[in-house]
Amino acid sequence: MNAKIIAVTNQKGGVGKTTTCANLGIGLALSGKKILLIDDDPQGSLSISLGYSYPDKLTTTLSTIMSKIITDIKFQSNEGILNHHENISLLPANIELSGMEVSLVNIMSRETILKQYIDKVRNQYDFIIIDCMPSLGMLTINALAAADSVIIPVQTQYLPAKGLEQLLQTISKVRRQINPKLKIDGVLLTMVDNRTNFAKDICSLIRQTYGNNINIFKTEIPYSIRAAEISAEGKSIFSHDPKGKVALAYKNLTKEVLEIEKLCKKHKSDIIR
Ligand SMILES: Nc1ncnc2c1ncn2[C@@H]1O[C@H](COP(=O)(O)OP(=O)(O)O)[C@@H](O)[C@H]1O
Ligand SMILES: [Mg+2]
Repeated sequence: MNAKIIAVTNQKGGVGKTTTCANLGIGLALSGKKILLIDDDPQGSLSISLGYSYPDKLTTTLSTIMSKIITDIKFQSNEGILNHHENISLLPANIELSGMEVSLVNIMSRETILKQYIDKVRNQYDFIIIDCMPSLGMLTINALAAADSVIIPVQTQYLPAKGLEQLLQTISKVRRQINPKLKIDGVLLTMVDNRTNFAKDICSLIRQTYGNNINIFKTEIPYSIRAAEISAEGKSIFSHDPKGKVALAYKNLTKEVLEIEKLCKKHKSDIIR
């Protein structure tokens, strides 16, 4: 196995990054894929939403592993990994990771510490999905440096324009300077409230403005209180509300992500031939 690495990123908070990581991850696991989710946010929201309610009490987290890499201490490839009952693995995070954001600034190879971890474990998974924090700081740069592609959730209750431009610039810069192979799998429209014309307008505006240059996922994630409930439940939308519209949407997103991966693999093997 050689995992595809996806960073779910947007420097804006509250756009559905964490919800997408958890449910895309579990959606892929339901399709038989081996999944590792990495919580790359000191707030530990992904860890909390998967049922590890007190991440600050965990002894081994992403920050532990990154510290070991920085100080050249060996670590086991399953170190700190938690196994969630819906068949995914999680490397959790907690507040200690916020110290990492600061200490990374002064060290050698500071952009590629997370990549060094991922390179060691990627042969054990089909997909590794990284939940980024809401900033474009060193932890997010580490995620972009380690990733094969990014998924950008965009909340459709506000005009996202400016923030999205800044994110796209950061991605191009990472491509030029650190990770030339970084791709954008797509922009994901989230919390779409189809009862309002405003939401429909924003969706079509984003599709018009960016659709020619960037893939915008066909699947839109609807706004639903059901989606907001799951983080308190520690499980996915597939077990919380399996027949609901959000579960269907994440199932469709999973299909799109698998389709992109299939095309990518085919393209690679065509080149080799
Ligand atoms: N489709 C949705 N409908 C309604 N609420 C949602 C939906 N997706 C996420 N939420 C809620 O919105 C908030 C922000 O989502 P979250 O995934 O944590 O975003 P981010 O990680 O970008 O900060 C959370 O309280 C979450 O439960
Ligand atoms: Mg989050």
